[in-house]
Amino acid sequence: MAALIPRPRMQLAPGAVHVPGWLGVEQQRELVVACRGWATGPVPIRHTRLPRGGVMSVQTVCIGWHWQPYRYTRTAGDVNGSRVAPFPDWLAELGRRALVAAYEDPAAGDGYAPDTALVNFYDGRATMGMHQDKDERSGAPVVSLSIGDTCVFRFGNTENRNRPYTDVELASGDLFVFGGPSRFAYHGVPKVFPGTGDPATGLASGRLNLTMRVTGLPG
Ligand code: SIN
Ligand code: MN
Repeated sequence: MAALIPRPRMQLAPGAVHVPGWLGVEQQRELVVACRGWATGPVPIRHTRLPRGGVMSVQTVCIGWHWQPYRYTRTAGDVNGSRVAPFPDWLAELGRRALVAAYEDPAAGDGYAPDTALVNFYDGRATMGMHQDKDERSGAPVVSLSIGDTCVFRFGNTENRNRPYTDVELASGDLFVFGGPSRFAYHGVPKVFPGTGDPATGLASGRLNLTMRVTGLPG
C-alpha cells in the first residue's frame, strides 16, 4: 500500500539494509501465487520439528534445497521424502535486483546465484526466536521479502541473541538484505500485527516471508 509518508531506505548496520515498499502490489500478488503453489507440493508446507522435540510456530516450505534443523538436503526426509521444487531463474533475478536496490550499487547483484529459499507463513500467533542463518556454506547475502501483515523484525549482533539489537517494522512489500559484516547477525520475529496486510496482495491474512540464500553446496 502506498504510504502517505514514505519510509526511507535505511542501513541498520554495515551490510544490513531495509528497503520499505520495494515490491509493488502486482509483484506481491505474483509471489503469493508462487508461494501458494510451493506450499501445496511436491513438499507441502509444514511446521518444522526441532531436534529436541519442539515445533516451530511458523509454517515453512523450501525450494531449491530443503532446510531442516540444521542442514540442507535435496529431498525432504522429515516431511514426505520428495525432492523440493526447483529454484526458478526469475527468483534469482529478483534476488540480484534486490541487492542492487539495497546496496545502491548497479554491480551489487553480479554473480549472486541464490539456490534456496525458505518461505515462512506466520499466522497471528506465530513468532520466530533469535537465530543466525548459518547452515549455508557461503557468506553471500540473504535477501528477505515480506508480504501481508506487518511484523516486528529484530535485527541483532553477530555475537549473541541479546542486545544490542534494533527493532524495525517489516510491512508488505518490504525488502531486507543482510550481507557482508551483518551476514551472520542474529535476527528474529517477536511479533506479527494481525489484520495489517492489504488483501489486494492476494493474502487475506497472515504474513509471508521469503528468504533466498546461497547454500554453497555442490550440485
Ligand atoms: C527467517 O529468519 O528465516 C525469517 C525472517 C522473517 O520472517 O522476516
Ligand atoms: Mn533467519
